[in-house]
Amino acid sequence: MKDVYILAIETSCDETSASIIKNGSKEISTVVLSQMDIHKQYGGVVPEIASRHHIRNITLVLEETLQKAKMKMKQIDAFAVTYGPGLIGSLLIGLQTAKTLSFIYQKPLIPVHHIAGHIYANQLEKDFSFPLICLVVSGGHTDLIYMDGHYSFKKIGSTLDDAVGESYDKVARVMGLDYPGGPLVDKLAAQGQDTYDLPMPLDDDTYNFSFSGLKSAVVNLVHNEKQIGNDIVVENLACSFQNRVIDILVKKTMQAIKEYKVKQLLVSGGVAANRGLRERLKEECKKHQIDLVIPRINYCTDNAAMIGVAAYYAYQRDIIADLTLDSKAVTNIEL
Ligand code: KG4
Ligand code: ZN
Repeated sequence: MKDVYILAIETSCDETSASIIKNGSKEISTVVLSQMDIHKQYGGVVPEIASRHHIRNITLVLEETLQKAKMKMKQIDAFAVTYGPGLIGSLLIGLQTAKTLSFIYQKPLIPVHHIAGHIYANQLEKDFSFPLICLVVSGGHTDLIYMDGHYSFKKIGSTLDDAVGESYDKVARVMGLDYPGGPLVDKLAAQGQDTYDLPMPLDDDTYNFSFSGLKSAVVNLVHNEKQIGNDIVVENLACSFQNRVIDILVKKTMQAIKEYKVKQLLVSGGVAANRGLRERLKEECKKHQIDLVIPRINYCTDNAAMIGVAAYYAYQRDIIADLTLDSKAVTNIEL
Protein backbone atom coordinates (compact mmCIF):
# COMPACT_ATOMS: atom_id res chain seq x y z
CA MET A 1 0.00 0.00 0.00
CA LYS A 2 1.18 3.52 -0.78
CA ASP A 3 2.49 5.53 2.15
CA VAL A 4 0.20 8.34 3.35
CA TYR A 5 1.79 11.58 4.54
CA ILE A 6 -0.56 13.89 6.42
CA LEU A 7 0.36 17.46 7.31
CA ALA A 8 -1.61 18.51 10.37
CA ILE A 9 -2.21 21.96 11.85
CA GLU A 10 -3.29 22.76 15.42
CA THR A 11 -4.09 26.32 16.55
CA SER A 12 -7.05 25.83 18.90
CA CYS A 13 -5.60 27.76 21.85
CA ASP A 14 -2.17 29.35 22.34
CA GLU A 15 0.13 26.87 20.58
CA THR A 16 0.85 27.23 16.86
CA SER A 17 1.79 23.75 15.73
CA ALA A 18 2.30 21.72 12.55
CA SER A 19 3.35 18.11 12.07
CA ILE A 20 3.90 15.55 9.31
CA ILE A 21 2.76 12.01 10.18
CA LYS A 22 3.38 8.96 7.99
CA ASN A 23 0.70 6.23 7.91
CA GLY A 24 -0.86 7.40 11.18
CA SER A 25 2.02 6.16 13.27
CA LYS A 26 5.39 7.59 12.32
CA GLU A 27 6.14 11.13 13.34
CA ILE A 28 8.32 12.68 10.62
CA SER A 29 8.54 16.20 12.06
CA THR A 30 6.66 18.37 14.53
CA VAL A 31 7.01 22.03 15.45
CA VAL A 32 5.18 23.58 18.43
CA LEU A 33 5.47 27.32 19.00
CA SER A 34 4.05 28.18 22.40
CA GLN A 35 2.78 31.64 23.32
CA MET A 36 2.81 30.78 27.02
CA ASP A 37 5.32 33.51 27.97
CA ILE A 38 3.19 36.15 26.24
CA HIS A 39 -0.04 35.19 28.05
CA LYS A 40 1.61 34.60 31.43
CA GLN A 41 1.61 38.31 32.25
CA TYR A 42 -2.22 38.37 31.90
CA GLY A 43 -2.76 35.30 34.11
CA GLY A 44 -4.42 33.35 31.28
CA VAL A 45 -4.80 33.13 27.50
CA VAL A 46 -6.09 36.35 25.89
CA PRO A 47 -8.01 35.16 22.78
CA GLU A 48 -7.41 38.27 20.64
CA ILE A 49 -3.65 38.21 21.32
CA ALA A 50 -3.52 34.45 20.65
CA SER A 51 -5.06 34.74 17.18
CA ARG A 52 -2.77 37.64 16.23
CA HIS A 53 0.27 35.52 17.14
CA HIS A 54 -1.08 32.53 15.20
CA ILE A 55 -1.25 34.74 12.08
CA ARG A 56 2.32 35.86 12.63
CA ASN A 57 3.66 32.34 13.34
CA ILE A 58 1.79 29.92 11.09
CA THR A 59 3.90 30.23 7.92
CA LEU A 60 7.15 30.04 9.90
CA VAL A 61 5.94 26.94 11.71
CA LEU A 62 4.91 25.29 8.41
CA GLU A 63 8.27 26.10 6.77
CA GLU A 64 10.20 24.69 9.71
CA THR A 65 8.06 21.52 9.76
CA LEU A 66 8.81 20.87 6.06
CA GLN A 67 12.51 21.69 6.53
CA LYS A 68 12.84 19.30 9.47
CA ALA A 69 11.13 16.56 7.43
CA LYS A 70 13.23 17.38 4.33
CA MET A 71 9.97 17.37 2.36
CA LYS A 72 8.15 19.62 -0.09
CA MET A 73 4.49 20.58 0.23
CA LYS A 74 3.65 18.72 -2.99
CA GLN A 75 4.69 15.42 -1.33
CA ILE A 76 1.86 15.75 1.21
CA ASP A 77 -1.16 13.48 0.57
CA ALA A 78 -3.72 15.23 2.80
CA PHE A 79 -4.05 18.26 5.07
CA ALA A 80 -5.59 17.90 8.53
CA VAL A 81 -6.75 20.60 10.89
CA THR A 82 -8.36 21.06 14.29
CA TYR A 83 -11.76 22.62 13.52
CA GLY A 84 -12.91 22.72 17.19
CA PRO A 85 -13.50 22.98 20.05
CA GLY A 86 -11.32 25.92 21.03
CA LEU A 87 -10.95 29.68 20.76
CA ILE A 88 -12.81 30.68 17.63
CA GLY A 89 -10.29 33.29 16.45
CA SER A 90 -7.36 30.92 17.00
CA LEU A 91 -9.09 27.99 15.27
CA LEU A 92 -9.85 30.17 12.25
CA ILE A 93 -6.17 30.78 11.48
CA GLY A 94 -5.32 27.06 11.32
CA LEU A 95 -8.52 26.28 9.45
CA GLN A 96 -7.98 28.94 6.79
CA THR A 97 -4.37 27.80 6.32
CA ALA A 98 -5.36 24.14 5.89
CA LYS A 99 -8.19 25.03 3.49
CA THR A 100 -5.83 27.15 1.40
CA LEU A 101 -3.24 24.34 1.19
CA SER A 102 -5.92 21.78 0.35
CA PHE A 103 -7.21 24.06 -2.44
CA ILE A 104 -3.77 24.90 -3.89
CA TYR A 105 -2.44 21.33 -3.85
CA GLN A 106 -5.83 19.71 -4.59
CA LYS A 107 -5.47 17.26 -1.69
CA PRO A 108 -8.14 16.13 0.83
CA LEU A 109 -8.95 18.27 3.86
CA ILE A 110 -9.46 16.23 7.06
CA PRO A 111 -11.35 17.87 9.95
CA VAL A 112 -10.16 16.70 13.39
CA HIS A 113 -11.92 17.19 16.71
CA HIS A 114 -9.40 18.56 19.24
CA ILE A 115 -10.23 15.89 21.85
CA ALA A 116 -9.91 13.12 19.25
CA GLY A 117 -6.41 14.51 18.75
CA HIS A 118 -5.64 14.32 22.49
CA ILE A 119 -6.89 10.71 22.56
CA TYR A 120 -4.75 9.74 19.55
CA ALA A 121 -1.58 11.19 21.18
CA ASN A 122 -1.59 7.76 22.87
CA GLN A 123 -1.31 5.94 19.54
CA LEU A 124 2.20 7.42 19.23
CA GLU A 125 3.08 5.34 22.32
CA LYS A 126 1.22 2.09 21.68
CA ASP A 127 -1.43 0.56 19.37
CA PHE A 128 -4.96 0.78 20.72
CA SER A 129 -6.68 -2.42 21.85
CA PHE A 130 -10.44 -2.19 21.90
CA PRO A 131 -12.68 -1.81 23.75
CA LEU A 132 -10.94 0.96 25.64
CA ILE A 133 -11.70 3.98 27.80
CA CYS A 134 -9.93 7.30 27.62
CA LEU A 135 -9.84 9.72 30.53
CA VAL A 136 -9.51 13.18 28.96
CA VAL A 137 -8.27 15.78 31.44
CA SER A 138 -7.30 19.16 30.02
CA GLY A 139 -7.74 22.88 30.57
CA GLY A 140 -11.13 22.82 28.84
CA HIS A 141 -12.32 19.21 29.21
CA THR A 142 -12.87 16.41 31.69
CA ASP A 143 -14.46 13.46 29.88
CA LEU A 144 -14.63 9.70 29.99
CA ILE A 145 -14.79 8.40 26.41
CA TYR A 146 -15.52 4.80 25.40
CA MET A 147 -14.18 3.44 22.07
CA ASP A 148 -14.93 0.06 20.50
CA GLY A 149 -13.05 0.80 17.28
CA HIS A 150 -10.96 3.48 15.60
CA TYR A 151 -12.44 6.97 15.41
CA SER A 152 -15.63 5.88 17.15
CA PHE A 153 -16.30 7.81 20.33
CA LYS A 154 -19.00 7.50 22.97
CA LYS A 155 -18.93 10.03 25.79
CA ILE A 156 -20.00 8.27 28.98
CA GLY A 157 -19.34 11.15 31.37
CA SER A 158 -18.20 14.72 31.52
CA THR A 159 -17.72 17.65 33.88
CA LEU A 160 -20.90 19.50 34.81
CA ASP A 161 -18.98 22.73 35.48
CA ASP A 162 -15.22 23.46 35.57
CA ALA A 163 -12.71 21.29 33.73
CA VAL A 164 -10.03 19.80 35.96
CA GLY A 165 -7.17 21.85 34.43
CA GLU A 166 -9.24 25.01 34.77
CA SER A 167 -9.71 24.26 38.52
CA TYR A 168 -5.96 23.69 38.89
CA ASP A 169 -5.26 27.06 37.26
CA LYS A 170 -7.82 28.90 39.43
CA VAL A 171 -6.60 27.29 42.64
CA ALA A 172 -3.01 28.12 41.66
CA ARG A 173 -3.98 31.74 41.07
CA VAL A 174 -5.53 32.18 44.52
CA MET A 175 -2.36 30.60 45.96
CA GLY A 176 -0.33 33.30 44.19
CA LEU A 177 1.25 30.99 41.58
CA ASP A 178 1.93 31.79 37.90
CA TYR A 179 -0.19 30.67 34.92
CA PRO A 180 -0.54 27.84 34.00
CA GLY A 181 -0.72 26.73 37.60
CA GLY A 182 -1.35 23.00 37.09
CA PRO A 183 2.31 21.93 36.91
CA LEU A 184 3.22 24.17 39.88
CA VAL A 185 0.42 22.80 42.10
CA ASP A 186 1.53 19.27 41.09
CA LYS A 187 5.12 20.02 42.15
CA LEU A 188 4.06 21.57 45.49
CA ALA A 189 1.65 18.69 46.18
CA ALA A 190 4.55 16.23 46.06
CA GLN A 191 6.26 18.18 48.88
CA GLY A 192 3.19 18.56 51.12
CA GLN A 193 0.75 16.61 53.25
CA ASP A 194 -3.03 16.26 53.10
CA THR A 195 -3.87 18.42 56.13
CA TYR A 196 -6.70 20.65 54.86
CA ASP A 197 -10.31 19.59 55.25
CA LEU A 198 -11.55 19.99 51.67
CA PRO A 199 -14.78 18.46 50.28
CA MET A 200 -14.78 15.45 47.97
CA PRO A 201 -16.07 16.45 44.48
CA LEU A 202 -19.31 14.90 43.14
CA ASP A 203 -19.16 11.25 44.23
CA ASP A 204 -22.27 9.57 42.78
CA ASP A 205 -22.88 6.57 40.53
CA THR A 206 -22.68 8.54 37.24
CA TYR A 207 -19.49 9.16 35.26
CA ASN A 208 -19.93 12.92 35.51
CA PHE A 209 -17.59 15.21 37.43
CA SER A 210 -17.93 18.53 39.26
CA PHE A 211 -14.94 20.53 40.45
CA SER A 212 -16.43 23.97 41.11
CA GLY A 213 -17.35 23.14 44.74
CA LEU A 214 -13.82 21.99 45.54
CA LYS A 215 -12.33 25.01 43.76
CA SER A 216 -14.61 27.42 45.69
CA ALA A 217 -13.71 25.68 48.96
CA VAL A 218 -10.01 26.39 48.30
CA VAL A 219 -10.71 30.02 47.32
CA ASN A 220 -12.84 30.60 50.46
CA LEU A 221 -10.30 28.89 52.70
CA VAL A 222 -7.45 31.10 51.43
CA HIS A 223 -9.54 34.29 51.83
CA ASN A 224 -10.72 33.34 55.35
CA GLU A 225 -7.23 32.45 56.57
CA LYS A 226 -5.87 35.72 55.13
CA GLN A 227 -8.59 37.71 56.86
CA ILE A 228 -7.70 36.32 60.29
CA GLY A 229 -4.00 36.75 59.59
CA ASN A 230 -3.11 33.05 59.29
CA ASP A 231 -0.49 31.80 56.82
CA ILE A 232 -1.37 29.15 54.28
CA VAL A 233 0.97 26.17 53.98
CA VAL A 234 0.88 26.08 50.17
CA GLU A 235 2.46 22.61 49.87
CA ASN A 236 -0.22 21.13 52.16
CA LEU A 237 -3.06 22.98 50.44
CA ALA A 238 -1.79 21.81 47.02
CA CYS A 239 -1.52 18.24 48.32
CA SER A 240 -5.04 18.28 49.86
CA PHE A 241 -6.57 19.72 46.65
CA GLN A 242 -4.70 17.32 44.38
CA ASN A 243 -5.66 14.30 46.51
CA ARG A 244 -9.40 15.11 46.21
CA VAL A 245 -9.08 15.58 42.44
CA ILE A 246 -7.12 12.37 41.91
CA ASP A 247 -9.37 10.36 44.25
CA ILE A 248 -12.49 11.11 42.23
CA LEU A 249 -10.84 10.86 38.79
CA VAL A 250 -9.36 7.46 39.64
CA LYS A 251 -12.51 6.16 41.38
CA LYS A 252 -14.84 6.95 38.45
CA THR A 253 -12.35 5.81 35.82
CA MET A 254 -11.87 2.44 37.53
CA GLN A 255 -15.67 2.08 37.88
CA ALA A 256 -16.05 2.67 34.13
CA ILE A 257 -13.29 0.18 33.29
CA LYS A 258 -15.13 -2.47 35.29
CA GLU A 259 -18.58 -1.74 33.89
CA TYR A 260 -17.48 -1.52 30.25
CA LYS A 261 -15.04 -4.46 30.54
CA VAL A 262 -12.29 -2.65 28.68
CA LYS A 263 -8.78 -3.88 27.91
CA GLN A 264 -6.97 -0.59 27.85
CA LEU A 265 -7.03 2.77 29.62
CA LEU A 266 -5.74 5.84 27.81
CA VAL A 267 -5.15 9.17 29.55
CA SER A 268 -5.07 12.42 27.57
CA GLY A 269 -4.81 16.19 27.84
CA GLY A 270 -2.62 18.61 29.77
CA VAL A 271 -3.51 17.19 33.20
CA ALA A 272 -2.30 13.73 32.04
CA ALA A 273 1.13 15.25 32.76
CA ASN A 274 0.21 15.31 36.47
CA ARG A 275 2.69 13.14 38.35
CA GLY A 276 0.29 12.27 41.15
CA LEU A 277 -2.41 11.15 38.70
CA ARG A 278 0.04 9.11 36.60
CA GLU A 279 1.35 7.28 39.68
CA ARG A 280 -2.11 6.48 41.10
CA LEU A 281 -3.41 5.22 37.76
CA LYS A 282 -0.29 3.10 37.30
CA GLU A 283 -0.88 1.43 40.69
CA GLU A 284 -4.59 0.83 40.07
CA CYS A 285 -4.11 -0.52 36.54
CA LYS A 286 -1.37 -2.87 37.71
CA LYS A 287 -3.68 -4.15 40.44
CA HIS A 288 -6.54 -4.76 37.98
CA GLN A 289 -4.33 -5.90 35.05
CA ILE A 290 -5.41 -3.10 32.74
CA ASP A 291 -3.07 -1.89 30.02
CA LEU A 292 -2.38 1.79 30.80
CA VAL A 293 -1.16 4.16 28.09
CA ILE A 294 -0.20 7.80 28.78
CA PRO A 295 1.53 10.10 26.26
CA ARG A 296 5.00 11.49 26.85
CA ILE A 297 4.76 14.75 28.83
CA ASN A 298 5.31 16.92 25.69
CA TYR A 299 2.41 15.23 23.92
CA CYS A 300 -0.04 15.64 26.80
CA THR A 301 -0.40 19.34 25.96
CA ASP A 302 -1.49 20.75 22.60
CA ASN A 303 0.49 19.70 19.52
CA ALA A 304 -0.18 18.91 15.86
CA ALA A 305 1.35 15.40 15.91
CA MET A 306 -1.72 14.07 17.75
CA ILE A 307 -3.96 15.76 15.14
CA GLY A 308 -2.01 14.08 12.31
CA VAL A 309 -2.39 10.63 13.90
CA ALA A 310 -6.14 11.12 14.56
CA ALA A 311 -6.57 12.41 10.99
CA TYR A 312 -5.22 9.16 9.53
CA TYR A 313 -7.99 7.19 11.26
CA ALA A 314 -10.63 9.80 10.36
CA TYR A 315 -9.46 9.51 6.74
CA GLN A 316 -9.88 5.70 6.89
CA ARG A 317 -13.49 6.35 7.86
CA ASP A 318 -13.92 8.78 4.91
CA ILE A 319 -14.20 11.80 7.16
CA ILE A 320 -13.23 14.48 4.67
CA ALA A 321 -14.40 18.09 4.54
CA ASP A 322 -14.87 20.54 1.71
CA LEU A 323 -13.93 24.21 1.68
CA THR A 324 -17.12 25.21 3.50
CA LEU A 325 -15.70 23.66 6.73
CA ASP A 326 -16.22 26.06 9.63
CA SER A 327 -14.44 26.33 12.97
CA LYS A 328 -16.53 25.59 16.06
CA ALA A 329 -15.89 26.91 19.57
CA VAL A 330 -18.02 24.06 20.97
CA THR A 331 -18.58 20.73 19.22
CA ASN A 332 -19.36 17.16 20.28
CA ILE A 333 -16.79 14.41 19.68
CA GLU A 334 -19.51 11.82 18.97
CA LEU A 335 -20.07 11.41 15.21
O1 KG4 B 1 -4.52 20.00 26.98
P1 KG4 B 1 -4.03 21.35 27.31
O2 KG4 B 1 -2.67 21.78 26.83
O3 KG4 B 1 -5.00 22.45 26.79
C1 KG4 B 1 -6.35 22.27 26.61
O4 KG4 B 1 -6.75 21.69 25.55
O5 KG4 B 1 -7.09 22.66 27.54
O6 KG4 B 1 -4.12 21.46 28.92
C2 KG4 B 1 -3.68 22.58 29.63
C3 KG4 B 1 -4.05 22.38 31.09
C4 KG4 B 1 -3.80 23.62 31.96
O7 KG4 B 1 -4.97 23.86 32.73
C5 KG4 B 1 -2.63 23.20 32.84
O8 KG4 B 1 -2.62 23.84 34.11
C6 KG4 B 1 -2.88 21.72 32.99
O9 KG4 B 1 -3.29 21.32 31.68
N1 KG4 B 1 -1.65 20.99 33.38
C7 KG4 B 1 -1.54 20.33 34.57
C8 KG4 B 1 -0.23 19.79 34.61
N2 KG4 B 1 0.41 20.13 33.43
C9 KG4 B 1 -0.48 20.86 32.70
N3 KG4 B 1 -2.42 20.16 35.58
C10 KG4 B 1 -2.02 19.45 36.65
N4 KG4 B 1 -0.78 18.91 36.75
C11 KG4 B 1 0.14 19.04 35.77
N5 KG4 B 1 1.36 18.49 35.90
ZN1 ZN C 1 -5.86 20.57 24.29
